[in-house]
Amino acid sequence: MTMRIAPSILNADLADIAAEVARVPSSDMIHFDVMDNHFVPNLTLGLPVVESLLRHTTTPIDAHLMIEDADTWAPQYADLGCESVTFHAEATKAPIRLAREIRKLGSRASLALKPTTSIEPYAEVIGEFDMILLMTVEPGFGGQSFLDSVLPKIRRTRGLIQDTGKQIWIQVDGGVSVDTIGRAAEAGADVFVAGTAVYRSDDPDAMVTKLRDLAVSACGH
Ligand code: DX5
Ligand code: ZN
Repeated sequence: MTMRIAPSILNADLADIAAEVARVPSSDMIHFDVMDNHFVPNLTLGLPVVESLLRHTTTPIDAHLMIEDADTWAPQYADLGCESVTFHAEATKAPIRLAREIRKLGSRASLALKPTTSIEPYAEVIGEFDMILLMTVEPGFGGQSFLDSVLPKIRRTRGLIQDTGKQIWIQVDGGVSVDTIGRAAEAGADVFVAGTAVYRSDDPDAMVTKLRDLAVSACGH
């Protein structure tokens, strides 16, 4: 299984985002956290910043929308050219319609679940998505501790995906570090967001490689 690392720029120097992205050339994607101070109690960046950033990097952008009214906003991130657009199950009125709209615009469509939201209601429709993001912290802030209680949900989601026969990625986001990435990979995750672990490291690009190596050896195939 291919393991992908997506550094979260939430934890980088937000006054110099293009340079911060350039510091991690080994990344598979750059994770871009959009927060609106309604869905989560924090406010970050939005469409105009993604638009600018896309002019400064060729690394694919993985937009994680922690916003209300994702139905309205998510297609605009796809339209800009984000490789992947993630919206929250808890903030979407019509997730299947939205996923289809995002795919039609040429991006990967991804469904995010907070730690207390179950995957089971989505079991029959999981094939509508290119990726499932299982939050391993309550969304809103970087630097929180990884929730081991989400590991069984990662395993169940991997099982549901195997039943579809499709190549659907499982992303984990929150508290991913050298200490926790192995457990998430062993449970079935294959895309890892890491904010603090990468950007608070002395050598962020070496950390990206190290995290990927740990995930590969933990998954065992
Ligand atoms: C949290 C964000 C995460 C965050 C991860 O709500 O969605 O992407 O930046 O940061 P760390 O890796 O520090 O937990
Ligand atoms: Zn995120």
